[in-house]
Amino acid sequence: MPATGAKPPGATDEAAAAHAVRQMFDSIAPRYDLLNHVLSANVDRLWWRRAARHFRPILARPDSAVLDVCCGTGDMTMALLRHRPHGSQPILAADFAPAMLARGMRKFGASARRADPDRAGIGQQRPYAIALEADALRLPLRDASLDLIVTAFGFRNLANYEAGLREFLRVLKPGGQLGILEFSEPGGLIGQAYAVYFRRILPAIGRLICGKEGLYNYLPASVGSFPPPADMLALMRATGYDRPGWQPYTFGIAGLYTAARPTVP
Ligand SMILES: C[S@@+](CC[C@H](N)C(=O)[O-])C[C@H]1O[C@@H](n2cnc3c(N)ncnc32)[C@H](O)[C@@H]1O
Repeated sequence: MPATGAKPPGATDEAAAAHAVRQMFDSIAPRYDLLNHVLSANVDRLWWRRAARHFRPILARPDSAVLDVCCGTGDMTMALLRHRPHGSQPILAADFAPAMLARGMRKFGASARRADPDRAGIGQQRPYAIALEADALRLPLRDASLDLIVTAFGFRNLANYEAGLREFLRVLKPGGQLGILEFSEPGGLIGQAYAVYFRRILPAIGRLICGKEGLYNYLPASVGSFPPPADMLALMRATGYDRPGWQPYTFGIAGLYTAARPTVP
């Protein structure tokens, strides 16, 4: 039976799954950035930047309304901000784990993004983001209010993937775009080698750095039970998205799902 949402060990329903995911990220927050960069040998930076570049035309419009959902400690948000002109509308950066969000705010918040001295006097603040503590499945945002939603390595953790896609569709404007950056499991020899790293070496390094048993077993398990690209694309189509697509990154270890809200219902 296809996966419907994240199922951390011991969670018996969607509410328990969401609770376990939030607790897990809150507890890992102080070590999250270090772990990420060590475990991915910094390739994650390239992925965030490449995903952000894909949406350059929307990001370059100062008045476009942009949400980075499941923003965590804010590295995807920072990659998006690189393409925002000075003085543009702040990006919204949402996450339901307060400890993750607090770290993100230090990177992307208005006070961290002081006015550019070269532009002092003309009131053009460096592009920044506003932190929003919110559940991706119940966004406190109006219908049809966003031009772009991006989520990086967070979608896989949602307790219900279809409900997530529906919620994103609700808040996107007609023609608005969605980008989901997620891990996947590559095939072939590279896939076999990567599986050894991902299932054996990565949990051991994770355990060493953050000292918590099991936390980094969840990562490979959640990627293993996440729908493969063909199923994700079918789910996006069935939920009502236009032009769903998937672009593999780094031999398909990760990839960017893209789709748009139809312009006519
Ligand atoms: C693996 S981290 C990714 C963080 C960041 N986007 C990045 O690329 O480093 C996943 C994040 O998704 C958040 N998350 C998971 N489920 C969520 C939900 N239902 N609503 C909001 N945030 C959620 C977690 O709290 C965590 O911060």
